[in-house]
Amino acid sequence: MLSCNGEHSRLKSINSAFTLIVFLGCCFSGLFYRESRKNAPEFQKKTPFFSRKDTEGYKKILFWTAWNAQRMSFSPNNQPDWLDECPESRCLFVSSKKRPQDADAVFFSMPDLYHFGEGDLPGARTKDQYYIFHLDESPDTTKELMPWHKWGALDNFFNLTMTYRRDSDIFSEVYLSGYEPHIMNLTTRGTDPLWFEGKRDILWLVSHCHTASKREEYVRRLSHYLKVDEYGKCDAPDPCRTQRKNCDLANLVGKYKFYLSFENSFCNEYVTEKLTRALNTDVVPIVLGGANYSSFLPKSAVINIEDFASPKNLAKYLESLMENVTLYESHLSWKYPGQPLWTIPGTREPQYRRFCKLCEILHRPPEQRIEKIYPSVKDWWFDGQCREPRVPFKRAQHSRNEAYLQNVFVDTLGAPESRKNKTSKA
Ligand SMILES: *[C@@H]1O[C@H](CO)[C@@H](O)[C@H](O)[C@H]1NC(C)=O
Ligand SMILES: *[C@@H]1O[C@H](CO)[C@@H](O)[C@H](O)[C@H]1NC(C)=O
Ligand SMILES: *[C@@H]1O[C@H](CO)[C@@H](O)[C@H](O)[C@H]1NC(C)=O
Ligand SMILES: *[C@@H]1O[C@H](CO)[C@@H](O)[C@H](O)[C@H]1NC(C)=O
Ligand SMILES: *[C@@H]1O[C@H](CO)[C@@H](O)[C@H](O)[C@H]1NC(C)=O
Repeated sequence: MLSCNGEHSRLKSINSAFTLIVFLGCCFSGLFYRESRKNAPEFQKKTPFFSRKDTEGYKKILFWTAWNAQRMSFSPNNQPDWLDECPESRCLFVSSKKRPQDADAVFFSMPDLYHFGEGDLPGARTKDQYYIFHLDESPDTTKELMPWHKWGALDNFFNLTMTYRRDSDIFSEVYLSGYEPHIMNLTTRGTDPLWFEGKRDILWLVSHCHTASKREEYVRRLSHYLKVDEYGKCDAPDPCRTQRKNCDLANLVGKYKFYLSFENSFCNEYVTEKLTRALNTDVVPIVLGGANYSSFLPKSAVINIEDFASPKNLAKYLESLMENVTLYESHLSWKYPGQPLWTIPGTREPQYRRFCKLCEILHRPPEQRIEKIYPSVKDWWFDGQCREPRVPFKRAQHSRNEAYLQNVFVDTLGAPESRKNKTSKA
């Protein structure tokens, strides 16, 4: 849980009601899902709940599954205090499965439905209820969530989706809401004339070693040319152990010129806290992922590996930035003081937060109610969502022509002896 521990220590200082949402966003990220089974976020303990005496006019949200392996257990008439920030906050969190037909919405966290068998879905259902499909991970990492035939059992089952995709009925903003526009004022540039010289080169924090995106392959190839400081679980030191003080990932990231915001898959819109962590500090993110980054960020805000024909070409570009602070700053200046505040729509406004939105939907008058059924949630979730990288760095899975591939790699990488002996300032 290297991410969560780090984020968590930072979050202690954020005295805001949606701390929990951001915290969940971090901890529920697919990358850390398996680790978090051992070390689940303490949803109940960390969230102050009010037990409402008068619940007239309140809607009930039943948590049918565990969430991130944490069994949900709420006392009757419970409302998390952060719901109070929502324009419509009259909703209760319930967990008793005795009368599922009394709930207005039934929430299913997909990874926690993994072992479902026949008696594990609610028996009684009314036509006015919403069954909610929730996932914050990417399709590529959830292929093995459950056997395909079980997905079939969920045809015509769900009414609403809650995911990181904007075309979900309820957009789950957890990752992007981690972006803090006001961070612009915290930039160290201008206060420290040596800020650039003092920076180390490239940082990668990683805890999943084998991914659908093959990011590990890209890093391996990139590090033929430039030194990449790697921390995490993949045979590299864990920064939370090696740093003596509180594990402050934001601080560590800010000590570098570049941060590898490499996602675990190339799926539409799928970006995680790996991106926002970089946006929130004085570091230039190098991105690998399936999102259209320029649809929600200034073009200069990220360096996309897919804009370079090869890791070698990217390395050349990074070197040119490392040698010229003016060029380097062209990727950071969008967030310097004096620049217009860059916001990402729908990520911080209370009305768009996922449980605010759900509560609002539940309270809609009859004529505005959503009537919806997902005939195949499996198709909605998987079809056309993920792709292969556009630049060659990934070894084909069933390579028939190994010699051809090796030539491609040699072309792409250059011969090993041309590697630079670059040392980090670390
Ligand atoms: C930055 O700080 C100044 C002075 O404290 C303040 O007026 C301004 O609103 C801040 N800008 C942002 C983007 O937070
Ligand atoms: C990405 O977003 C930009 C800005 O919204 C748009 O102009 C561009 O066509 C999009 N690219 C793709 C591949 O969809
Ligand atoms: C750095 O890059 C800028 C912008 O391209 C250029 O004007 C400047 O001459 C470069 N500086 C050096 C020392 O090469
Ligand atoms: C939700 O889906 C079920 C099952 O397909 C359907 O019977 C019900 O009418 C739907 N409810 C709403 C509110 O759309
Ligand atoms: C890299 O370093 C090794 C050992 O220090 C040295 O033998 C080799 O010649 C160097 N390569 C280059 C390209 O400088």
